[in-house]
Amino acid sequence: MGKKEEISKRIEELRELIRFHDYRYYALDEPVISDAEYDALFRELVRLEEDHPEFASPDSPTRRVGFPPVEKFQPFEHQVPMLSLENAMAESEVFDFSRRVERLLDSHEPIEYVAEPKMDGLAVEVVYEEGVLAGAGTRGDGYVGEDVTHNVKTIRAIPWKLFSSEDSREPAPPRLIAVRGEVYLDRADFERLNRSRMDAGEPLFANPRNAAAGSLRQLDSSITAGRPLKAFFYGVGAVEGFEFETQWRMLRRLRLWGLPVNPLSRHCRRIEEAIQVYDDLSSRRASLPYDIDGVVIKVDRLDWQRVLGEKSRSPRWAVAYKFSPDEAQSRIRDIIVQVGRTGVLTPVAVLEAVMVGGVTVRRATLHNQDEIDRKDIRIGDVVMVRRAGDVIPEVIEVVASRRSGEEKAFRMPRECPSCGGEVVRLSGESVHRCLNRNCPAQIKAAIGHFASRDAMNIEGLGRRIVSMLVDEGLVASVADLYRLGPGDLESLPGFGAKSAQNLVASIEKSRQPSLSDFLYALGIYHVGRHLADILAEHFLTLDAVRGATREELESIEGVGEKVAGSVVSYFSNPGNRRLVDDLLAAGIRPGGVRSAVREEDPFWKGKTVVFTGTLSTMTRQEAGSRVAAKGAKVSESVSRKTDLVVAGKDAGSKLEKAVRLGVAVLEEEEFLRRLGS
Ligand code: IVH
Repeated sequence: MGKKEEISKRIEELRELIRFHDYRYYALDEPVISDAEYDALFRELVRLEEDHPEFASPDSPTRRVGFPPVEKFQPFEHQVPMLSLENAMAESEVFDFSRRVERLLDSHEPIEYVAEPKMDGLAVEVVYEEGVLAGAGTRGDGYVGEDVTHNVKTIRAIPWKLFSSEDSREPAPPRLIAVRGEVYLDRADFERLNRSRMDAGEPLFANPRNAAAGSLRQLDSSITAGRPLKAFFYGVGAVEGFEFETQWRMLRRLRLWGLPVNPLSRHCRRIEEAIQVYDDLSSRRASLPYDIDGVVIKVDRLDWQRVLGEKSRSPRWAVAYKFSPDEAQSRIRDIIVQVGRTGVLTPVAVLEAVMVGGVTVRRATLHNQDEIDRKDIRIGDVVMVRRAGDVIPEVIEVVASRRSGEEKAFRMPRECPSCGGEVVRLSGESVHRCLNRNCPAQIKAAIGHFASRDAMNIEGLGRRIVSMLVDEGLVASVADLYRLGPGDLESLPGFGAKSAQNLVASIEKSRQPSLSDFLYALGIYHVGRHLADILAEHFLTLDAVRGATREELESIEGVGEKVAGSVVSYFSNPGNRRLVDDLLAAGIRPGGVRSAVREEDPFWKGKTVVFTGTLSTMTRQEAGSRVAAKGAKVSESVSRKTDLVVAGKDAGSKLEKAVRLGVAVLEEEEFLRRLGS
């Protein structure tokens, strides 16, 4: 082969490789190479194309950098109108929807549904002719939108060519297909974008949806190219040369052709299952990387969709079950100051009660004085309050138009509201702290954290009782809890013989925590739930964690300088050492005997294991430390590198993914047998 030919072959190979890896990354969410490896391929292609312009091609992935700007958008006609959806705001309205569907179809066969996350982005239609991206438009009025073909071509998540499977039983992309989906920005990318706009003195986008819309509707597509837009597809408009049977199979087919489809979509045999999907997503909403504002529930069978048809602007076969809004207006009645377990003073707004995201909110954090100053928040202000998932509600901004002039500015106190001790602001910190280590508020908060559900899980020891125990002088540190007898508690207000015994019993029950729970319970700075797991999994015993050096800690994946420093300084502080010794002397045995002994087992050794669902015999934590003790590595997410997935009850997407990837799955019974118990 001549040199030229070789180069041309390599260029084609690189283009194919990049298309393949785009597909793995965007459509399957399962990249098989690192970002650095991808960048290397991309750079090699850019260089070869620069050196050999004779091999340039308009459909090379390197062309995703934009096209010459246009003066205005051309109209883009939708052959099949893009409808909108009717909203349901409550469960009862979803049942109204399903009853209407049942009545209209009057079928003897069960009606199945598909539940999909309702992406909060911008709707687009992308037309593929003979499998090649031929045009793209926004929704507009549903009939005619704006032609954004050039812009859509810069979005790496949207393929220029649909895939034909090598498996001849799988159908090739049809002659013509208009796919519909939502273009969006991940929240993290939105924040990054806004930070750089702030640095450049440009106006900020209000939310990821506006940023996505603003990015897609650019006359200069090179601007779009610079924004990390993504997309999920969920439907089709005009199609020639293919028949879809159900929504669920359509989604699968779109994915096989290389289009990204939201993996959180679910096939539901009954409407109740769709409502479960809603409940599940509603609680996980805050931890998703992108914004969703509800769940779209669709009748699965497309022939039934056609029978149901549409009313003026929305179909009868689908409904958007919306989340309750997670922002609302309220008035700040007062600002109080809370002292946390590390002595940090947090200003908290006392609000007029307001419903946000489905719960009543009366307080919202203001973070610190700098934040209050930056947002210019005053007592008496009308403000916007946000609550996202289980995140503590926060005040986002003041509604300036509602100011009367009567509002009062707020200043952090110079004395700790709990102990009266001195309050300082250390250099380099944005927070104020009370430095008194015996401050009752700090002691109470530390004990409350120790006892909390995620830590030692001492049932019945809530903040009110902790506060009483400290005020009565019965408890001054967490170790004192284990010296309490029923007699100490009986005489306290609200306690009787029975409740005193119950509390002592549940304290008793916490004597054998997993190592991870124990490390988290200690409240070491920067060691949250996740890092406690990482440390426990790595060290297996408390002694090993206590003896770890900074270097050893930093060598662990996921542990940075800050955490390593904090762990070392925690265990070298004499007061903390005394406390841990005191807890051990009181009979606390973190890690238990089982995980403390390393007993490698050839079945488990070297395997990467992922747990999903609920086990009936032990917590996931414990299961994790037991297989770790046998030489396995526990991981959070399923990938091709996973050797085993242990599936408990109600296992969800991880199990699905395992099945898809052909990863071995152990049910609980088999798992216990393999553990030797
Ligand atoms: S289906 C006729 N599915 O919601 C049905 N829409 O209010 C048309 N959206 O314009 C839409 N996620 O921008 C559908 N999984 C999903 C969706 C979704 C977000 C948006 C879309 C549409 C709007 C309808």
